[in-house]
Amino acid sequence: VTFCSIHNVGSTNLRQMDGIEAGKKAAAITAVNNHVKTNQVVGIGSGTTIISAVQRLAERVKEEGLKVICIPTSYQARQLILENKLTLGELEINPELDVAIDGADEIDADLTCIKGGGGCQTQEKIVAANAKEFIVIADSRKDVQVLGTNWKNGIPIEVIPMAWRPVQVQIEKRFGGKACLRMAQRKMGPLVTDNGNFILDWKFDKTDDWWKINTELKLIPGIVETGLFVKMARVAYFGTPEGTVDIR
Ligand code: 5RP
Repeated sequence: VTFCSIHNVGSTNLRQMDGIEAGKKAAAITAVNNHVKTNQVVGIGSGTTIISAVQRLAERVKEEGLKVICIPTSYQARQLILENKLTLGELEINPELDVAIDGADEIDADLTCIKGGGGCQTQEKIVAANAKEFIVIADSRKDVQVLGTNWKNGIPIEVIPMAWRPVQVQIEKRFGGKACLRMAQRKMGPLVTDNGNFILDWKFDKTDDWWKINTELKLIPGIVETGLFVKMARVAYFGTPEGTVDIR
């Protein structure tokens, strides 16, 4: 039985950290400036990059009187919306979104993303799938040709708790690699998602047809959702340590 906890990508010194933060901020601000208009319903992703996007939205509300309804993708996103005094919406009332903005763990040349480093991929995918535009924001380390280049934590797969072991066995038998149960901090049992489920981080050992793999994974009973976002992102904004932004 394999357990695992999430680890950081490589080792980063303080100066690199500043560069990464500058990149995230630049990507977030540019995406909000370019894609959000007044009277829109906006999906708010989860993670650290999205914090700057929410702050920029709040600034635009104050400066220009921008009006937006924000749909959260996690408990964290909900808190962020409330802390920044933005209008909180919900899918029951606003099932169709104009735009969804979110971070990602890695983005390949086709804009296929790995998401769920923070364990929120299920709600993130629901919100993104119901938006006219799904916009990804990230620092430039996450811009890769092939998934798995820098991100070594695998593809997060949300599972119903009682099914985690059989799903682990199935994934490893059918697709290879290792699928390990994500543990909570200080290893106090499995991490529990906002939906009350567990996460298997699937460390794949070969790159493949992600659309096909995602479809096959989704057919395994017990899998709720995967962190593979295939053919979903319309555009990605990558911020560099110098504060410039590459749009792809
Ligand atoms: C959370 C996610 C995040 O968007 C992803 O992990 C990127 O996070 P960060 O912006 O902190 O790098 O998918 O489930």
